[in-house]
Amino acid sequence: MPISVILGLQWGDEAKGKVVDLLSQEFDIIVRYQGGANAGHTIYYNNQKIPLHLIPSGIFHPDKTCIIGNGVVVDPYALKDEIEKLKELGINVKERLYISSRAHLILPYHKKRDEERDRTRKIGTTKKGIGPAYQDKSARWGIRAGDIFYPDYLRERLKNNIDNYQELFKEYTEILNFIKPMIKDTVSILVEAEQSGKKILMEGAQGTMLDVDFGTYPYVTSSNPTIGGVFTGTGLSPKFLDKIIGVSKAYTTRVGAGPFPTELEGNMQSYLREEGNEYGATTGRARRCGWLDLTQLKYAADVNGIDGIFLTKMDVLNHLEEIKVGIGYRHNGKIISTFPDAISILNEIVVEYKTLKGWNTNINGIKTFSKLPEQTKDYIKFIQDFINIPVIGISTGPLRGDVIYAD
Ligand code: GDP
Ligand code: IMO
Ligand code: MG
Repeated sequence: MPISVILGLQWGDEAKGKVVDLLSQEFDIIVRYQGGANAGHTIYYNNQKIPLHLIPSGIFHPDKTCIIGNGVVVDPYALKDEIEKLKELGINVKERLYISSRAHLILPYHKKRDEERDRTRKIGTTKKGIGPAYQDKSARWGIRAGDIFYPDYLRERLKNNIDNYQELFKEYTEILNFIKPMIKDTVSILVEAEQSGKKILMEGAQGTMLDVDFGTYPYVTSSNPTIGGVFTGTGLSPKFLDKIIGVSKAYTTRVGAGPFPTELEGNMQSYLREEGNEYGATTGRARRCGWLDLTQLKYAADVNGIDGIFLTKMDVLNHLEEIKVGIGYRHNGKIISTFPDAISILNEIVVEYKTLKGWNTNINGIKTFSKLPEQTKDYIKFIQDFINIPVIGISTGPLRGDVIYAD
């Protein structure tokens, strides 16, 4: 079974990039299946902090192939920028990155539309043109990467979309020519890879609670970061699925507007934000911070059918006497056992918490699970028992080496 998946269980920024970079060693091909440059996946390479927006986080392993699948919306300007930045670091991308010919493009008019709309809709989007590009795709109005191979068709499509298409056709052709050698039928590349026994790792962007179907709609993104997105976004069948790994922070964050049941206020929120350096990798916005929400996490685990949890940023909780975790919701005094399907309910729920003892010591540098403080083990066990899924690894710092695998 050659396909494994790493996806976010919260509202994004769970440190998926770090986990993908870490686990890429065991795979041949790393694939992004949805989202676009709204993602910001941070990797440390030679002690340098690098945010990736479109290129899969496996790119730092020189022998790996990376694929941007058909489910991704590709901003060619952002992609060129990213390729050039990596080149400056000595990482050659062009020979081992493929972009799906079926992937839809984000062009400057999508970003403009995104900015204009969010002024009134106030979702707090990343303004990267994601919503408008997916909208054009569903409306059968979109422009795909592979259209560059058919200039007359591309011109015609642009004519349908914008007024000054003549001028822009030239400009867009130029930028698309830069990525043209990498644009391929990635469906057949992936199918062939699967058939020849290559190991494939799928890298989710955003997170389950930002999923357009399963998230806190309408405060979501426009794609499916959840498990189904893997298949519609790449062309591979679920039949070949091996492991699904869900990434969660040891607490919760959210950027942008929308419900966040365990959100903290005041000093405690600032504490987590500063300890966790919770500022967006894409927009630099301060992230909203709160306690871990196990009702939410269980919902995300169920929706994706995850096999294991990777718990990140454990070190951020190092110096707390007590740590709270959300263990249930009440609405109008009644306990609700599932994650609410309506914003109006989410806005009214009261969260019930369990207070656990903090370990109040530095766990950075610990390399084996058995050497962790008892309180850290208890915290992990509590999560594991509640969700009924094993924690397979924890991250104790931003670097590749800051990791402990479960025994
Ligand atoms: P992604 O979008 O899910 O890939 O996550 P981001 O890169 O947006 O955000 C995660 C942030 O936490 C980045 O700045 C990482 O460098 C950092 N990070 C990752 N793992 C850890 C960890 O275990 N501890 C700490 N303190 N920081 C971490
Ligand atoms: P990674 O992959 C966190 C949020 C935005 C906004 C909502 C819709 O780094 O985890 P969009 O621009 O997608 O239309 O914005 O989704 N959002 C993210 N939040 N991490 C991300 O990606 C996000 N991508 C989008 O802040 O609330
Ligand atoms: Mg991010």
